[in-house]
Amino acid sequence: MNEFKLIRNEAGYISAIETSLTGHALLSAPKLNKGCAFTQEERERFGLLGLLPARIETITEQAERLYAQYSEHTSNLAKHIHLNVLHDYNETLFYYVVSRHLEEMLPIIYTPTVGEAVQRFSVELRKPKGLYIAYSDRDRLDEILDNRLLADIDLAVITDGEAVLGIGDQGIGGINISSAKLMVYTLCAGINPHRVLPVQLDVGTNNPHLLNDPMYLGWRHERIGKQEYDEFVEQFVKALQKRFPSIYLHWEDMGRDNARRILSRYRQEACTINGDIQATGVVALASVLAGVVASGVPLRDHRVVVFGAGAAGIGIADQIVDAMVRAGLSEQEALSRFYLIDRQGLLTDGRNNLLPFQKRYVTSRDELSHWSCDILQSKQVLLDVVENAKPSILIGCSTVAGAFNEAVVKAMAAGVSRPIILPLSNPTSLSEALPSDLLEWTNGNALIATGSPFADVEFNGKRYRIAQSNNALAFPGIGLGVIMSKAKRLTDDMLWAATEALSRCSPVYQDKTASLLPKLAETHMVSRQVAIAVAKAAVRDGVAGIHLDDSTDWEKLIRETVWEPEYYPYQLSRG
Ligand code: NAI
Repeated sequence: MNEFKLIRNEAGYISAIETSLTGHALLSAPKLNKGCAFTQEERERFGLLGLLPARIETITEQAERLYAQYSEHTSNLAKHIHLNVLHDYNETLFYYVVSRHLEEMLPIIYTPTVGEAVQRFSVELRKPKGLYIAYSDRDRLDEILDNRLLADIDLAVITDGEAVLGIGDQGIGGINISSAKLMVYTLCAGINPHRVLPVQLDVGTNNPHLLNDPMYLGWRHERIGKQEYDEFVEQFVKALQKRFPSIYLHWEDMGRDNARRILSRYRQEACTINGDIQATGVVALASVLAGVVASGVPLRDHRVVVFGAGAAGIGIADQIVDAMVRAGLSEQEALSRFYLIDRQGLLTDGRNNLLPFQKRYVTSRDELSHWSCDILQSKQVLLDVVENAKPSILIGCSTVAGAFNEAVVKAMAAGVSRPIILPLSNPTSLSEALPSDLLEWTNGNALIATGSPFADVEFNGKRYRIAQSNNALAFPGIGLGVIMSKAKRLTDDMLWAATEALSRCSPVYQDKTASLLPKLAETHMVSRQVAIAVAKAAVRDGVAGIHLDDSTDWEKLIRETVWEPEYYPYQLSRG
């Protein structure tokens, strides 16, 4: 485990690194290796003479070489692999390069390219990262955890690879998601990569392609049943908490039922977040709140149609209901402003095929009797719902490409001056609408956030930047807030504080025609705002693990917590 220590100065900045490693061992430690940037003095003191070419480079010079090498690759997967190989031998340089090309490289190391890397895990594996905990090794959990690379852990990102992005059960390949999320934590919020742990709970796979693939690297077994699964997760969480009582657990890309069960099982007993449910909800709601500001209409007066009433659609609807309740409506009043549609049609009180979490969103038959059509017989459900319900907010989580067509959007725009439209389905090819069409059909008035990235749109001589509802704007800052306040729990109020803080970073506060969300390139600033809001909410809720109050120097607390990709001077420890 760790053979190094960060030394910080009075102001909280990292000033040096102390290590006992020398020679080949030092060059082979990706967290410490500086390659040709080791100074002459360090080369002499750490036994590196003759192990490196003579020239001493700066990190900027190294980054230029890396970027040139990276640019030679023509496929996104090859670029992803190139950057991950760099991460395997020089982490500081990896973070330095990616942070300087963030908008270009985030889609390469994270979504969407990481999806491809997950699918190709067993073919492309170079160096394994993180901890692989197979169900077959469940009796040796303590030993496995003791084999981890790093001594102190603040944050673990955990997956079982059952529901990866939009590509389903990927078994062991899910570990790439855990690693990528942690990279985003560091890139966007400065989370110290020396204190994190990517974890794959290898509970098998039900993907027949993987089970039959001779190259498959995971535990070749069907997924275990619910009881075994719950017991295994319990065993894992307890073993982790025994070592790190205040560890922050981030769960990602688990199957829907497991994700919800884990969230409700542990939210009162651990500091935990589900990325798909909670972090995604924060960004989507922040987009809506920014749209509400730009529209000039108070949130409590909006009406919402959600097209696609699955995990994402319901999760987002739940968050907007909570926000409306915070804005003064009763829960019933808030729910009465929602119309949700799934593959079987509008959710109505007469349907007997509703999922449990859909039930509170039914539209009553009473209300439907006043509509201009029989929605239960409709062949154009979305259009009929829009014409009758007159929504001011339209959200798409359906994976139905082009569902927000001209008729639907024009019908909506006929009733509101600034329609808020969020086609959130991924990938780009499944988006419910193209931003250029939305702007054209609404004469430039639509307030848009999309799930996938879209290029700027020129309309009527004006350039529109399209907000991307990317949860990289939320979870890194939430994590920083949790870690710097040593929060024991992640409460609803902390998530709400994160949502408000993110929404306040929206450019619409300066210009009502601007993009709903800040640029990804601004995530550092955004994450800090979100982190301070989250930490303050932790104090209010009594879950902060350290004493913080009005006199706290928040900027200093951030400096004392974060890590920046720079080469620090090395000191030899006797270790
Ligand atoms: P899901 O499978 O749980 O839900 C899909 C829903 O769409 C279901 O209710 C289904 O009945 C409905 N649907 C499918 N075809 C339909 C049709 N022809 N007409 C009406 N409804 C239809 O999937 P999940 O997890 O909710 O994800 C949905 C999409 O949302 C995905 O593309 C996902 O990538 C995206 N998403 C985007 C996020 C963002 O913030 N950008 C966050 C989370 C998900």
